[in-house]
Amino acid sequence: MEITTYFASVQQEIEETLARLLPVKNVPEARLYEAMSYSSLGGGKRLRPVLFCAVLDLLGVQEKKAFLPFAAAIEMIHCYSLIHDDLPAMDNDDYRRGRLTNHKVYGEAMAILAGDGLLTYAFQVMLGIRIPGVGAEQVLTATKQMADCAGLCGMVAGQAVDILNEGTPLTLEELRYIHRKKTGAMIKGAIVSAAILAGATKEEQEALAIYGEQIGLAFQIADDILDVIGDSKEIGKKAGSDDKNGKVTYPSLLGIEGAYAYGEEAISAAVGALHLWGEEADLLREIAYFCLQRKK
Ligand code: IPE
Ligand code: IPE
Ligand code: MG
Ligand code: MG
Ligand code: MG
Repeated sequence: MEITTYFASVQQEIEETLARLLPVKNVPEARLYEAMSYSSLGGGKRLRPVLFCAVLDLLGVQEKKAFLPFAAAIEMIHCYSLIHDDLPAMDNDDYRRGRLTNHKVYGEAMAILAGDGLLTYAFQVMLGIRIPGVGAEQVLTATKQMADCAGLCGMVAGQAVDILNEGTPLTLEELRYIHRKKTGAMIKGAIVSAAILAGATKEEQEALAIYGEQIGLAFQIADDILDVIGDSKEIGKKAGSDDKNGKVTYPSLLGIEGAYAYGEEAISAAVGALHLWGEEADLLREIAYFCLQRKK
């Protein structure tokens, strides 16, 4: 299947699953639900669910429907990370996915709570999942994997080091640490949790983990490049955010060409890690190139 067709089909399935999981509620906290839906529905590339589904396909899962709430939960964690990332106390950005950021519409307090709500609800959903043929032990291990990747071993840690180093010179090695944690970890988490749920062998899991880490790094390098040369309309957020916030980025250290070349090395390493598979991994190979070459 063409990569764009694959993205479109997962995007639709995730949109439907998220809409079902995040109903509008007539309760005193209705505005919280509205704020959570605002930043979860109707936008985004849905890369992490796409990778999750692509790994299920690679490992021969025939019926993906029962796995979709897990993929949607991963997207909820991602959406929460974006809401908090845009807050005035963090990157202070006004646009995301072509619309005003959550705090611009709902205010900072509700944006913080919408993020908290999405994060907590994601784990409620993951732990409540029942998939025919998948054991409770596998669900627990996959959920633990997501907790590691989203939290103190992953995204939250990376975001902390990113914020702590605004305006500070960094080495390439230090920047790589930030990018692998703040962005690479969630991407790797989506891939490895799918592998666990699909019953992958240890060898397969390890290969996919390397693939995930490397495309995750390349994905953030592309994000840095797009922040310099991207079209604000196309990327759906205002370019120049990193410069405004004094962030060290791959382009600021290596230039655009150098950053791209560094990203290409990561993509080669990612594709190299897929040597266990033949053409059944072609979709993952294509997604790897997309992560760096993307325009949005
Ligand atoms: C943006 O992620 C934040 C990063 C981790 C670089 P995406 O580029 O995946 O954002 P959406 O979900 O498509 O909006
Ligand atoms: C943030 O990186 C990664 C997250 C964990 C949200 P950026 O701050 O560069 O992401 P954008 O450019 O705002 O999407
Ligand atoms: Mg940020
Ligand atoms: Mg940001
Ligand atoms: Mg960015």
